[in-house]
Amino acid sequence: MDVGEALEEAVFSLIRSGHSNTPQMDAELLLAHAKNSSVTHLLTWPSEKLTLDEEAAFRNYLKRREKKEPIALILGHQDFWSMTLKVNEHTLVPRPDTECLVEWIIHQPLETAVVCDAGTGTGAIALAIAGEKPNWQVFAMEKSTQALAVACENQQLLELPVAFFQGDWLSAVAEDSFDILVSNPPYIPANDKHLADLTYEPRSALVAKKQGLSDIEIIVGQAKNCLKAHGYLVVEHGFDQGYCVQEIFKEAGFSGIETHQDYGKNDRFTVGVNACGDAGLHA
Ligand SMILES: C[S@@+](CC[C@H](N)C(=O)[O-])C[C@H]1O[C@@H](n2cnc3c(N)ncnc32)[C@H](O)[C@@H]1O
Repeated sequence: MDVGEALEEAVFSLIRSGHSNTPQMDAELLLAHAKNSSVTHLLTWPSEKLTLDEEAAFRNYLKRREKKEPIALILGHQDFWSMTLKVNEHTLVPRPDTECLVEWIIHQPLETAVVCDAGTGTGAIALAIAGEKPNWQVFAMEKSTQALAVACENQQLLELPVAFFQGDWLSAVAEDSFDILVSNPPYIPANDKHLADLTYEPRSALVAKKQGLSDIEIIVGQAKNCLKAHGYLVVEHGFDQGYCVQEIFKEAGFSGIETHQDYGKNDRFTVGVNACGDAGLHA
């Protein structure tokens, strides 16, 4: 079988499965992965033959994709910001919309800052900030041992200065530690119908009690202590959770509360300023 034939067959089979919105691109990425080559190479040399091992690997990847496994988990990596990050079954696959939080944070006019990414998963947010802001000190924390191992591997591959630590949200963090605290916590309600399409990622990275708001409540409560006066809290949430998250921020005493949208113009993250304490960084 040659590359062109393999691609044609795979595209048909992916369309038949009904589980891919991008069958041509998926087929190309999976075949490039099976051949340890690039999509450009495949498209340039469509009559190149597949070895038996390559064909077997390709068929295996296709079968997985036809069962709705995310392409990133089959490939073992996902692009985020300007980086390629390792991912596996213990991590959330970083989503493009989370880049909007990174963008907001790096546009804050701070010469120096101490930042923490809570629930870092692959390390996506923390590593992106560290790459953009060499003068900032970046910490990242995570509860899952396996996810933390992936984050550390990404950090070593990218050679970016992020200090990772394990913990249950911010329970072990000292008072007045950070200028910016960012988190993309689990926020999907347990009865959300979209969970049926997310069976390959850890439930502990996706689902939260109290209609998806329980982890956000904990983080906002703890953030009051571990943020410096006038420090920023930046929290990702569901498109329909902006109002509730603003209320949680208000009840905890944050000021300057704003909800921002993602690339698709959906409400995606809320920002607040830690109003208590003496005039500090942003006064
Ligand atoms: C939605 S994922 C976000 C991962 C990553 N920040 C990103 O944007 O791709 C939430 C992360 O929070 C972690 N997490 C869940 N409960 C936690 C807790 N109690 N303490 C710390 N991290 C937690 C999960 O393991 C998961 O990695």
